[in-house]
Amino acid sequence: MKLWGGRFIEKESRLMEDFNSSLSFDKRLCYEDIMGSIAHVKMLAKCSILTKEESVTIVNGLNSILLDIQEGKLKIEGDYEDIHSFMEIQLTKLVGDVGKKLHTARSRNDQVAVDMRLYSKHKAAEVIDNLDVILCTIEKVGTFNAVIMPGYTHMQRAQVVTFKQHIMAYYSMLRRDKKRLISAIEIMDENPLGCCALAGTTYDTDRSFTTSELGFKKPVDNFMDGVSDRDYLLELLSSFSIIMMHFSRLSEELVLWSTKEFDFIEISDEFSTGSSIMPQKRNPDAAELIRGKTGRVYGDLMSLLTTMKGIPLAYNKDMQEDKEPFFDAVDTVLKCIKVMNKMLSSLKIKSHNMHSAVKRGFLNATEAADYLACKGMAFRDAHGVIGSIVLHCEQVHTAIEDLNLEELKSFSELFNGDVYEFIDYENTLSRGIKKEM
Ligand code: ARG
Repeated sequence: MKLWGGRFIEKESRLMEDFNSSLSFDKRLCYEDIMGSIAHVKMLAKCSILTKEESVTIVNGLNSILLDIQEGKLKIEGDYEDIHSFMEIQLTKLVGDVGKKLHTARSRNDQVAVDMRLYSKHKAAEVIDNLDVILCTIEKVGTFNAVIMPGYTHMQRAQVVTFKQHIMAYYSMLRRDKKRLISAIEIMDENPLGCCALAGTTYDTDRSFTTSELGFKKPVDNFMDGVSDRDYLLELLSSFSIIMMHFSRLSEELVLWSTKEFDFIEISDEFSTGSSIMPQKRNPDAAELIRGKTGRVYGDLMSLLTTMKGIPLAYNKDMQEDKEPFFDAVDTVLKCIKVMNKMLSSLKIKSHNMHSAVKRGFLNATEAADYLACKGMAFRDAHGVIGSIVLHCEQVHTAIEDLNLEELKSFSELFNGDVYEFIDYENTLSRGIKKEM
């Protein structure tokens, strides 16, 4: 069933009908489609383009369709080109010919544009809410686990940090992700309804009315842009990709830390899986899947960027390809935030192992060099002296702080008893952290 056909002689090929139809995936816009239509019809009545009675009949009809869908009485399926055709045809079936007036002064081009803006704005807000939840979790996990651990550069033990510092780095990343989404919503918050196909309408419509009915900040400035702009989706997809990139880095650390080689954490049974052959295995599948799904969200971004790059103004059917990647990305990102949140909440931190890794890693070597520099040696020379001490310690399997003063003095006369306090891990850490926030 179609909304068009008058100018055609032959029937559309069945193959083309299937190829063209977006109903199987744009059915998720049903709520936004109805809300857009209700605002449109109310506006038509306000502008005396429809009568009050006509608009009430149509609005009631649309609300009853929505209720039937929500209650499962009406299934969104069948031979329809898209959700917009489905709704208009259902409406006409329900309320009769007056339903055919719904599309006055509107095109599916501005209709789909407003549906997608409403849907994606609402979904972006849902992602923000979920980010808020995981931000709380990270803060809690950090606060309860302010234990010392090695900090790494080049994946080599570098200096002492705390687990809290480490995990709070992700807090900072995700807080920026949240800001990025807030800004994307702010930029996209414009109403394309009323642009019609590309050039507006000869009817005297009121775009400010639908703008406030639908909760947008303002109507779009340019009609041709309004129906063919998808950069708000690209901005959201790129923010989702950055979130996934951050999650992927965290997942990578969770996978590494849960190896027997690191043994810094234990991912709970709830988020681990076993092997069908190796009975001893406990695999960090949740973290691996989040890392893996990052590629999928990047793919969604690349897919839409590529779709959009060659499209002349204004609407072209290529743009129907915006939906599946966006839906896929937003579903994936929401699922990953939820899984990551639960996985972090149930994480066991093995503080003893983190502490002994600090001890084995010469993580106070920089501070030991600082000590000599404080005593008057040039830092470069101090660096050389401590380097020789580390070499010696490695040969005799000891740590800098475990050498006695006499041994230390054999490398430099500047060493005194106060060195031990200076290079104590907790002390070096608190001196460093003081400058962090
Ligand atoms: N299903 C279409 C889409 O998602 C709706 C707009 C159709 N417009 C048109 N002129 N054929 O883009």
